[in-house]
Amino acid sequence: MEALRIRKCNPRLDFERILELEGASFTSDAYSEHTFWYYHQRCPDLFLVAEYEKTILGYLICCIYLQGRKQQRRGHIVSIAVDPLYRRRGIGKALVEFTFDYLEALSVAYVEIEVRVDNEAGLRFWRSFGFQQTVTIPRYYSDGCDGFKMHRYFEVFKTS
Ligand SMILES: CC(C)(COP(=O)(O)OP(=O)(O)OC[C@H]1O[C@@H](n2cnc3c(N)ncnc32)[C@H](O)[C@@H]1OP(=O)(O)O)[C@@H](O)C(=O)NCCC(=O)NCCS
Repeated sequence: MEALRIRKCNPRLDFERILELEGASFTSDAYSEHTFWYYHQRCPDLFLVAEYEKTILGYLICCIYLQGRKQQRRGHIVSIAVDPLYRRRGIGKALVEFTFDYLEALSVAYVEIEVRVDNEAGLRFWRSFGFQQTVTIPRYYSDGCDGFKMHRYFEVFKTS
């Protein structure tokens, strides 16, 4: 989409609209405002929104952690949602590509996400970026649905 802008979230201005997108995208697992505040405090650099002509059409949250003896950086995508009326137009992709550029610049080794096993669109979306399923997490979601853990390594890690 031309003129789509990816920028950091400004909670006071953006949370109302993000909560609207959340309600339209998730049911039992929709995040509360409190949870969004928590993640904004924890991971402000990659709490992103996609804005088109001053309307937020999507958001993504990614946190970075240090892992293991070597203290490698690992990315964890916490959530992503796009306005149902604007899906399949590359908005999710734009959010992910912005995030990957940021993670690669920080030499992050790999990024992971959990996806409901019944979320066909979500699974296809993540596979389109080279994510692979690793394990199944039984009853990961509050309604009892299992989750797949998916991950994707970055080149810098694979070749070192
Ligand atoms: C998953 C989600 C974020 C994708 O956002 P989007 O803006 O529609 O995705 P994009 O248009 O950037 O799609 C990129 C690619 O992902 C794949 N993809 C996305 N949605 C798909 C679908 N419904 N069916 C099949 N493939 C899909 C395609 O390969 C697509 O490329 P293409 O359109 O050129 O074929 C969106 O469907 C959404 O908000 N879903 C509800 C919330 C959710 O499930 N979040 C993910 C939790 S893990």
